[in-house]
Amino acid sequence: MRLRDTRPLSAPLAGYDGRFDVAGWYLVRGVVRLKKTLGPSSPSLIDLGMGRGRDLIYFARHGFRVLGVDLSPVGLEKAKRRAARLKVPIRTRLEDIRTYRLKGKFDVVFSSCTLNHLLPKLRARRFDHFKGATARGGIHAVNVFIPKPNYSPSLDMDPTGSPYRPGELRGYYWDWHILDSREFEFDCTFSGVPHRHALDVVIARRPSRALDYAARENNSANG
Ligand SMILES: C[S@@+](CC[C@H](N)C(=O)[O-])C[C@H]1O[C@@H](n2cnc3c(N)ncnc32)[C@H](O)[C@@H]1O
Repeated sequence: MRLRDTRPLSAPLAGYDGRFDVAGWYLVRGVVRLKKTLGPSSPSLIDLGMGRGRDLIYFARHGFRVLGVDLSPVGLEKAKRRAARLKVPIRTRLEDIRTYRLKGKFDVVFSSCTLNHLLPKLRARRFDHFKGATARGGIHAVNVFIPKPNYSPSLDMDPTGSPYRPGELRGYYWDWHILDSREFEFDCTFSGVPHRHALDVVIARRPSRALDYAARENNSANG
């Protein structure tokens, strides 16, 4: 299924007119559209790199049971205060996505503009872990910065981040159903210097049973 329809699901909350508007809001909207396909009436969702909880709170308001993790205590506090003000239930944890072990199975693993903080050598193992912590039939909705000719790598990206090769993100989901995969390019003035960014976006679903050859590969890797 391709998410071609670009009409808003509902009016975005304040905060969705900022620099990550295009790719971030696209992902959020994609997840909310797929909610009915997830099984539970209140699907569980984890946001890896929740920032100030803008997306997390939006998901909670749309009936998801949410957990957000981030390395920044400041972001977590802001999210908790805003959620309390709005009377929206959220759970948060101060965690490092490079090492954090997800507990249980989530219906949705969501991450916007954060997975660049997984350095290339960590990525395959971390994606395997995140995928393993996803319920069968559950989805991942993720985006990452990618380089483009003549673009500054990412003027506002934290120096601990590193770009993905175009198409790399999709590759981590080789044994899942790809529901949507696309590149976004957009203008940004966040750092005060107008520039452009490019992001790869993937929405993928864990199959209801492992592909035979994927299972064989995992068995031989584990044995
Ligand atoms: C560009 S912001 C995106 C925040 C949010 N997802 C959004 O779209 O507004 C990146 C976030 O990743 C968090 N972050 C960076 N490295 C991290 C790590 N190793 N573990 C967890 N969070 C991390 C930062 O604190 C920041 O909140």
